[in-house]
Amino acid sequence: PKRITVPQFTDYKQSGKKISMLTAYDYPTARLLDEAGVDGILVGDTLGMVVQGHETTLPVTMDEMIYHAEMVGRAVDHALVVVDMPFPSNHLGQHKAVEYAGRILKESRAQAVKLEGGAEQADTIRALVSAGIPVMAHCGLAPQSVHKLGGYRVQRDHDKLLADAHSVTEAGAFAMVLECIPSELANEITQAIAIPTIGIGAGPSCDGQVLVIADLLGITSGYVPKFAKQYANIKDTIISAVETYCNEVRTGEFPGESHEYK
Ligand code: KIV
Ligand code: NA
Repeated sequence: PKRITVPQFTDYKQSGKKISMLTAYDYPTARLLDEAGVDGILVGDTLGMVVQGHETTLPVTMDEMIYHAEMVGRAVDHALVVVDMPFPSNHLGQHKAVEYAGRILKESRAQAVKLEGGAEQADTIRALVSAGIPVMAHCGLAPQSVHKLGGYRVQRDHDKLLADAHSVTEAGAFAMVLECIPSELANEITQAIAIPTIGIGAGPSCDGQVLVIADLLGITSGYVPKFAKQYANIKDTIISAVETYCNEVRTGEFPGESHEYK
């Protein structure tokens, strides 16, 4: 199957096809998500928490984003691949933003970048789009601003969020993530703008949904947010497989005859 393009992704909104997106950070996971038919794969800077064990997304570097984007890009035949601009790469001026986002597209098979922010990011979005770099915006809760916000909370500023949505749309974003906002507000934004809204903690009216893969699979050992739905319990599966292996090594049951070279 051919890869989903940015214009196709945007057109899903008009045709009423709901968009499924998930994060992935490595080759084997991205292979499986692509085989399962997910529409979009986000190499999210949540890899700082999920893969690297940091407390926030702030420590993730551009080189690390590209390293993960390369692995995911190699795995994908079908899904649209979007890569996060890590903090603070989209706040250093338009020139730097184009240089950084350009690296993502040059050095991986990603087709688009995502950046956090609304109206105040409009000029940066415009610069990237005019350089031919598709941009997914990310409004509502901005995890890279966690210290300014004082925590991860539902964002309720109706007028600001609506203005942000219009602003990033006018700047040329092809889609936008809406994170942790009330469902009614997400519905209003989704009705108001022409580009697809991809919700995470933004209710059922969005044009698509995105989740962090570790939350969906049940790998996360720590805090799982209210908006995440766990579709499997891989954590218990892994622990019990490893326990069984350890026991079999101790008892000599593994390796068995079928695993031996004679
Ligand atoms: O980094 C990420 O995984 C994200 C999604 C939660 C939207 O930005
Ligand atoms: Na992110």
